[in-house]
Amino acid sequence: MENSYKRKALVIGSNGTIGSAICSLLESEYDVVKISRKNSDFSEESLQQHALQLSESGSFSRIICCIGVLHDDVVSPEKSLKQIQVDKLQHYFYVNSILPALCIKYFHQILDKSTPSSFACLSAMVGSTKDNHLGGWYGYRASKAALNSLVKTSSIEINRTNKKACLIAIHPGTTVGDLSAPFAKNVKPEKYYTPVQSAQRILQVMDSLSARQSGNFYNWDGNLIDW
Ligand SMILES: NC(=O)c1ccc[n+]([C@@H]2O[C@H](COP(=O)([O-])OP(=O)(O)OC[C@H]3O[C@@H](n4cnc5c(N)ncnc54)[C@H](OP(=O)(O)O)[C@@H]3O)[C@@H](O)[C@H]2O)c1
Repeated sequence: MENSYKRKALVIGSNGTIGSAICSLLESEYDVVKISRKNSDFSEESLQQHALQLSESGSFSRIICCIGVLHDDVVSPEKSLKQIQVDKLQHYFYVNSILPALCIKYFHQILDKSTPSSFACLSAMVGSTKDNHLGGWYGYRASKAALNSLVKTSSIEINRTNKKACLIAIHPGTTVGDLSAPFAKNVKPEKYYTPVQSAQRILQVMDSLSARQSGNFYNWDGNLIDW
């Protein structure tokens, strides 16, 4: 099929474990645009410029923001209040909440308005305040809870001007890769999914939803997660 006949999809964080698996799956059906640190510095100017350029090439049916950090050279999950530090909390909120919020701000404008379209932000089960039974991971939990709130709030505004758009937060399931590797020994093998499995499930959930479900927080199996 020629690219011009394909619907368009945008994957932000396209270079990560789940982001690259989503890109590979989408490519048979969609014309896929990829944004990652390879082609963006994620400044507001850069995101605004990307959105402007993309708007000139038509509207998008699927947008998936896969950005997130659990551990990197700046942060690792805190086990205790004693480990909370301003710069580390700021980094968690910058990557897990603020960057996705900027992506929603600039890229919701390129969602299709004439046919159903969806925009998913990869969140995490541990961002559920109700589901928190173990404690710890202060920055990651709080920044994903903030992401969920940003998704809910922006879904209300977006649906005023785009009645066919569905914006969701979704937990991909614990997925084999760099992000989960340090914690893999605590994960039951039957609950540790391949990137392709997680990518398939995220796309299946997105395909099953309409604007009526906009603003919700979903598990990879399509069930709602409590805030
Ligand atoms: N893997 C799991 O078990 C699991 C479980 C629950 C939730 N999640 C969530 O699912 C999403 C994807 O996870 P993953 O396993 O694919 O993780 P990953 O392989 O570590 O990918 C993380 C993505 O975030 C981007 N990123 C990280 N720091 C960034 C920064 N400072 N600025 C801009 N982009 C940055 C990376 O960008 P580049 O592409 O440029 O490298 C990459 O695309 C994350 O939001 C994660 O929190 C994952």
